[in-house]
Amino acid sequence: MFGDIEAGKSTFLRSLARAISERYTPAEAKIMMIDLRRSLLGSLEGPHLIGYGHSVQVAQDMIRQVVEVMKERLPGPDVTPEQLRDRSWWKGPELYVLVDDYDLVATGPSHVLSPLTEFLAQSRDIGLHVILARRVGGASRALYEPMMSRIRELASPGITMSGPREEGALLGNVKPQQLPPGRGWLTTRRHGNRLVQLAWLPPVV
Ligand SMILES: Nc1ncnc2c1ncn2[C@@H]1O[C@H](COP(=O)(O)OP(=O)(O)OP(=O)(O)O)[C@@H](O)[C@H]1O
Ligand SMILES: [Mg+2]
Repeated sequence: MFGDIEAGKSTFLRSLARAISERYTPAEAKIMMIDLRRSLLGSLEGPHLIGYGHSVQVAQDMIRQVVEVMKERLPGPDVTPEQLRDRSWWKGPELYVLVDDYDLVATGPSHVLSPLTEFLAQSRDIGLHVILARRVGGASRALYEPMMSRIRELASPGITMSGPREEGALLGNVKPQQLPPGRGWLTTRRHGNRLVQLAWLPPVV
């Protein structure tokens, strides 16, 4: 997700976390948050949340653990096509890694999250979901950073919220435009670009 200041990025991540926790049991889905500005703090409590990275240090430890788990899940040479199809060679929860203010995290080519880059192409097979929210300013340059460029190569779904048009097309062929909070262009491989209004949640007090 790309969006300017106050576009609704943190609200989206909070409502996504809530939706995951309502739809899946903790045995089915776990959530990690990386949130250096603590915008998501207190938005989700309980057994779904297995990590909250409010500092680079803490986030680093969390990602190290994720890498260990995901390595175990990678399909070996003995995995049959049938096992691949029904994902029966590993058991465990889906993991959702929610990252707010990604621009603060992704400084330099080898940043805290970059160890996850190698898993992205197989993320569906290994139950890994990475959701990034980033400001629009400087985004066109950031597209060439390894993690972001892999996500774009994979044509993952994305949302372009309010932002300056000068930044150019970020997802699909959508150039940012001024939009009210919570509104954005949802780009998916199947449906192209659609204007959407995201759910609102009251802020955590
Ligand atoms: N889906 C929505 N519908 C209506 N209003 C929204 C929606 N999402 C967010 N808002 C409002 O927009 C404002 C900014 O929301 P939020 O903090 O989520 O934005 P942000 O993009 O994370 O901002 P920041 O750049 O400060 O991190 C808040 O007042 C919030 O209530
Ligand atoms: Mg925010």
